Amino acid sequence: MKAQRWFLMLGTVMPSLLGLGLVLAGVSAGPAAEVSGIVVDADGPVAGAVVRQQTTKNMTTTAADGSFTLTGLPEGVTITVTGWDEGSYPAGVDVVPPTSGVTITLRPHPIGDNPDHEWYTSMDDPDEPIGCGHCMVAFPQWVTNAHGTSATNPRFFSLYNGTDVNGTVHVGGGYKDDFPGTAGNCATCHAPGAATDEAFLTADMSELSGVEREGVFCDFCHKVSDVYLNPATGLPYDNAPGVTSMRLNRPPSDTHMFYGPFDDVTRRVSYLALEKKSQFCAPCHQFSFWGTPIYESFREWLESPAGRRAREELDTEDMSEEEITQALFNRFVEQRQQPGSDDSQGEEE
Ligand code: HEC
Ligand code: HEC
Ligand code: HEC
Repeated sequence: MKAQRWFLMLGTVMPSLLGLGLVLAGVSAGPAAEVSGIVVDADGPVAGAVVRQQTTKNMTTTAADGSFTLTGLPEGVTITVTGWDEGSYPAGVDVVPPTSGVTITLRPHPIGDNPDHEWYTSMDDPDEPIGCGHCMVAFPQWVTNAHGTSATNPRFFSLYNGTDVNGTVHVGGGYKDDFPGTAGNCATCHAPGAATDEAFLTADMSELSGVEREGVFCDFCHKVSDVYLNPATGLPYDNAPGVTSMRLNRPPSDTHMFYGPFDDVTRRVSYLALEKKSQFCAPCHQFSFWGTPIYESFREWLESPAGRRAREELDTEDMSEEEITQALFNRFVEQRQQPGSDDSQGEEE
C-alpha cells in the first residue's frame, strides 16, 4: 500500500522535474550523499547501534568499532541523523550531507523500577503540566474508548457488584455476590495502575482514586518494558493476568522516561520493539478463568470475516506461521481506534 502511494506521488512529481530539464537517470537513482561517523556512550564506541535518517526508513547499524556510514542521503540540506542502542535515549545530530567525522553520543535511560513513581494523568488537567491530554493526538481517541473508561464502565460495575447498569438496584450474580470480602483480579487488567506491586489481589475496583480511575491509561502502557509469556505456548502463564505478566520500568521521580515505538524520537522517550508486537497486548487480552477461556479477542477476530479477508489479502508464500500470525495481528490492531493502533488506519481503509 505504501509503495503504491509512493508510486502515485512519483507520477505527479516526475513530469515537473522533467520540465525543469533534470536527467531522468539522476532522479530515479535517488539521493546519493553519505554521512559517516561514530556512535559513542560514556564507555566509548557502541557496536550494533541503530543509526537512522530521522523519520525515514533509511538506517544502518554501527560496526564493532562504533563506526557507521549512512548512504542515500539528500545533498546540501540539513537532516537529523539519530542513534539508538538498548538502554539509551535516542540521540540526534543535525548535519548537511555529505559529511564525515560525525559523533553521536548516547545517554543511558534509567533502568529498573521505581514503585514510588506517581502516575501521570492522561487528562488535560490544568494543574498537571505533564498531563498527556494537553497535546497528544492519541488523547481524543483514548478518552472515550474502552481503555480510557475501563475503570468507570457501568457494565463492568454491573458485573462486579451485581447491580443493574445504573449501579442502583442490586440484581445479584456479580463477582462480589460470589466472593464477598475479596477484590478479585479484575484490577490487574481493568485498573492496572492500582494493581501494580503487591496490590494485584487487593485492589478493589470500587475504591480506586485519582489516576487509577483512568483505567488503562497512557503512562501505564508507556512504562511497560517487558511481558512474561510462556515460551511453550506463546500465551500468558496460567493465573497471571494483566499487570502480573508485565514488567514495568518506572524511572526515578526526578526523571521522565516513556517507551515508544520509534528509535529516532529524541525526546524523553526510548524505543521498545515490544510495542510493535501483539505480545504487548496478550497479558490483558488472552485469559482463562479456571480453565474457561474468557478473553480471546484476537482468536475471535481471526475467525471473523474481517480476519479471514486479511489472511486472503496477505502474501503468505515466504512467511512462517508465526510471521503470518504477527502480520494478521497488526491488521487487527490497525482496524481499531485504540491508542497503540497504527495511526495511518483511517487513510488506508
Ligand atoms: C493493562 C491491560 C491492557 C493492555 C495491556 C491492553 N488492553 Fe485492550 N483492553 C483492556 C481492558 C480491561 C479492556 C476492556 C475495558 C472495558 O470494556 O471496560 C480493553 C479493551 C480493548 C478493546 C475494545 C474491546 C474490543 O474487544 O473491541 C480493544 C480494541 C483493545 N482493548 C485493544 C488493545 C490492543 C490492540 C492492545 C495492545 C496494543 C491492548 N488492548 C492492550 C486492557 C488492556
Ligand atoms: C486478563 C485481563 C482481565 C481480567 C483479569 C478481567 N478482565 Fe474484564 N475485560 C478484559 C478485556 C480485555 C475486556 C474487553 C475485551 C473482550 O471482551 O474480549 C474486558 C471486558 C469486560 C467486560 C465487558 C465490558 C463491556 O462494556 O462490554 C466486563 C463486564 C468485565 N470485563 C468484567 C470483569 C470482571 C468483573 C473482572 C474480575 C472478576 C474482570 N473483568 C477481569 C480483561 C480482563
Ligand atoms: C494499551 C496500552 C496503551 C495505552 C493506554 C496508550 N498507548 Fe500509546 N502506544 C501503545 C503502543 C503499543 C504503541 C505503539 C503502536 C504502534 O507502533 O503501532 C503506542 C504508540 C504511541 C505513540 C507513538 C506513535 C503515534 O502514533 O504517535 C504515542 C505518542 C503514544 N502512544 C501516546 C499515547 C498517549 C498520549 C496515550 C493516552 C492518551 C496513550 N499513548 C495510551 C500503547 C498504549
